Amino acid sequence: MSSSLLDSEAVYSAAPLTFLANSFLVSGVLKAALDLHLFDLLSTQALTLKELSEKLDMPRRAARSFLNACASAGLIIKKEDRYQNTMLAETYLVKGKPYYFGGYLAFEINRLFPPTHHLAETLKTGGLKKQNAAESIFDVYAEDPELGLEFFQQFHVLSGLTAPFLLEKIDLSDRKTVLDLGGGSGSLSIELAKSFPYLKFTLFDLPGICKIADHFIQEASLDSRISLYPGDFFKDDLPSGFDLILLSAVVNLWNPEQNEILVKKCWDALVPGGKIIMVGSMLKDNEYEPLELSFVSLISAIDTQGAIYTWKEQEEFLTKAGFQNLVRFPITAPIRNGVIVGVKLKD
Ligand SMILES: C[S@@+](CC[C@H](N)C(=O)[O-])C[C@H]1O[C@@H](n2cnc3c(N)ncnc32)[C@H](O)[C@@H]1O
Repeated sequence: MSSSLLDSEAVYSAAPLTFLANSFLVSGVLKAALDLHLFDLLSTQALTLKELSEKLDMPRRAARSFLNACASAGLIIKKEDRYQNTMLAETYLVKGKPYYFGGYLAFEINRLFPPTHHLAETLKTGGLKKQNAAESIFDVYAEDPELGLEFFQQFHVLSGLTAPFLLEKIDLSDRKTVLDLGGGSGSLSIELAKSFPYLKFTLFDLPGICKIADHFIQEASLDSRISLYPGDFFKDDLPSGFDLILLSAVVNLWNPEQNEILVKKCWDALVPGGKIIMVGSMLKDNEYEPLELSFVSLISAIDTQGAIYTWKEQEEFLTKAGFQNLVRFPITAPIRNGVIVGVKLKD
């Protein structure tokens, strides 16, 4: 056996390891770029290192490393001696643009960086969730209206970005009444209500979150079409008689047993012929791809009892409750890559 790595037959590059070890710098660079409004600066103009180091108020040597790191992360590109936004940054990270969700990313980096620093301990002790309780980070937001509004002001835009993808895939013109279960700020109901003027929505969420939803629904002047139903979907009965249920970005908060209970409650709330639209993040059946969702699954584990489930697991939640004729639609919305539609054929 060879005594030295360099003598061995298979010499592997260690670069992936050092990159992994330094990966905290990748989110650090993104956060710094957002804090420094780099993408806003580069939205209208391509700038040189000298100009950027002045505008960012950063020594030239540090600015050079920082900008080149942004370039290797795919956030900006360098053409000759000028830096400019990539399409990715221009579309999603320039404040004021319709698809901007940089504020959400900065909020989440701030929130999750400290527990990630002690990840082994965080995972062992159940992370941020309160012990022995079927609670999620949203209970914290529900109880702290200021923090809740701060979160949802960022999340609302991000979640609303899912609507165009849904509208492209699914026709709702034969539906009349929708229950948006765990509807959050109402982003999806609001967007769908704009496209289907005959649809009436009931948004069910925790009382503190319903107050936040009220703010966004009033802002969109849709309070006559989207009503609020405050409650806890585990402890309280759901309203019933709907012909459509939206379950968007909810099952990732809970463990499989809790999801089975929840989806059964959805079944009971629908009339025969009613449909469920489950929207969210879906992993491949190997449970670890795509990479970005595999890591998001850790956030669910830190925050709640949840996980990012595979397509198959999420379909099983539906079939166990009785839903049939399941159809999968992959989508490419930010942080959501899938939709599953199921039908309640009979009681
Ligand atoms: C990730 S958010 C998704 C919000 C919304 N569906 C969307 O797609 O933007 C999960 C939602 O589930 C709600 N939720 C969590 N626990 C709940 C409970 N026990 N009863 C009712 N709603 C709950 C949260 O308050 C939050 O609004």
